[in-house]
Amino acid sequence: MKKLNMSLKMSRREAVKMMGLAAGAGLLGCPGGGPSPPDNGGSNGDGGDNGGNGAPTPSILVRPNATSPDGAHMLELYARAVEVMKGRPDTDPTSWRAQARIHLDWCPHGNAYFLPWHRAYLNYFEEIVRDAAEDPSFALPYWDWTTHPSLPDAFWQGSLNDETRRITPGQEILPGFVGPDVIAEIMEISDFETFGSAYVTDECAGGGDEQRAGCGTGRLEGTPHNNVHTSVGGRRQPPPVGNMSTFWSPLDPIFWLHHCNVDRLWATWNLRHANGSNRRWRDWVFQNNFVDAAGQSQSIQVEDTFNTQDLGYRYDSIPAAGPETAVTGGTTTVLAHVETTGTSAARAGSPMSASLNLTEEMLTNLQGVTGGAAPESAGERSVRLTVGGFHHPAAAVPISVFVGPEEIPGDKSNPSHVGTFSFFPIGEGSHDHGGGGTFLFDIGEALSPDSGFDPSGPIHVHVLPESLEDSTAAAPEGAESPEFTPSLIRIEILEHV
Ligand code: C2O
Repeated sequence: MKKLNMSLKMSRREAVKMMGLAAGAGLLGCPGGGPSPPDNGGSNGDGGDNGGNGAPTPSILVRPNATSPDGAHMLELYARAVEVMKGRPDTDPTSWRAQARIHLDWCPHGNAYFLPWHRAYLNYFEEIVRDAAEDPSFALPYWDWTTHPSLPDAFWQGSLNDETRRITPGQEILPGFVGPDVIAEIMEISDFETFGSAYVTDECAGGGDEQRAGCGTGRLEGTPHNNVHTSVGGRRQPPPVGNMSTFWSPLDPIFWLHHCNVDRLWATWNLRHANGSNRRWRDWVFQNNFVDAAGQSQSIQVEDTFNTQDLGYRYDSIPAAGPETAVTGGTTTVLAHVETTGTSAARAGSPMSASLNLTEEMLTNLQGVTGGAAPESAGERSVRLTVGGFHHPAAAVPISVFVGPEEIPGDKSNPSHVGTFSFFPIGEGSHDHGGGGTFLFDIGEALSPDSGFDPSGPIHVHVLPESLEDSTAAAPEGAESPEFTPSLIRIEILEHV
């Protein structure tokens, strides 16, 4: 039965792999040995055909919105498959618990491997679910928390329920984490790292695990991604902390639909922006991190995850020609930067503030970013703020960052509010994992003349842990208010070609 489903639904990745084997070119799981599609710059918007190389064209499955009629049908298949997978022994690599274990063992957070790793993880999982549901048409639905901020109803029943959640039926994720304005802002970011988290460098890896290095969490990961995890699972010490707040989060069946939406937003961003050109990132192979429906170990190179149609799927919200139709913006140069080391601690209701003076060079280069005349033949420019070096807390609260004025404005719709992040995972032992204590923001709008920014004075950067009344879970009695001390605050002017 497994074999039958696999042959019915051979994904494009599998087709490509088989072609490589036939040509004697590819060894399973050999880094660099597998065939690599030629669409490195993302120029492949061909709608998924195989370019006349004679291989059969596998169909592209469409991942639906969970709240659509198609989504409702997929949720029925999903509920059945989850039950089957939960019934398998833990030693079976396609069991529910073994699938979650993969996340505990390998998942990258706080670096640029975050998006491609979770895309591949979902893709193999989807294959396993398709097999367990015994339905070759299964495609993973996504939870669009922007338009539907409460958990889809199906997740409160049967195999899709999780007893450890703090969120309650009907309770909504806050608009400051997932609302349309936040998502629109994230879709406007032109710098790949500010969008999708920072490349791993020798400096931030520090000789440790490449995939687990905490190098810088971008907006998509730091804001909607992390905040949905902690909003669903619970965000406070003491334990218990819900599954969704920990690296065991895939035990909660909503995890997969949450990540499906994160993945969809990456594909959506790619309609206009190319992925970064960093070679160390593109060439990295997730070596035997995954398993397929037959329980076999699987590896995939970062660059081979870029076009979802190569992996056999697309999203209902994205035209068939996408994603990765964008071809510009992938190569980033730092034109100028200024930085300071933070000294004081921030606590709920008591911000840490630092001020930086822009150099002449910075001010000159700011032109073309924030409303001044763009220099001739320059690429697109942006301004990136890095707030970094927080010790990963055992408890987490959302933290807002403001840039520009000396005083924090009372209203977060003010352009000086550049975003609200939270840490993931939280809870006991979470700081042993490189979850990433550094966060990136696009601050071009905060520094534009419309926002009242005065280039002759210093730029103030404020880090404000939010009051717990804003959170989706009330603080337990006697919980201490954690301290956050950034060790680095850096502003860079970037050019993207
Ligand atoms: Cu690797 Cu959203 O978790």
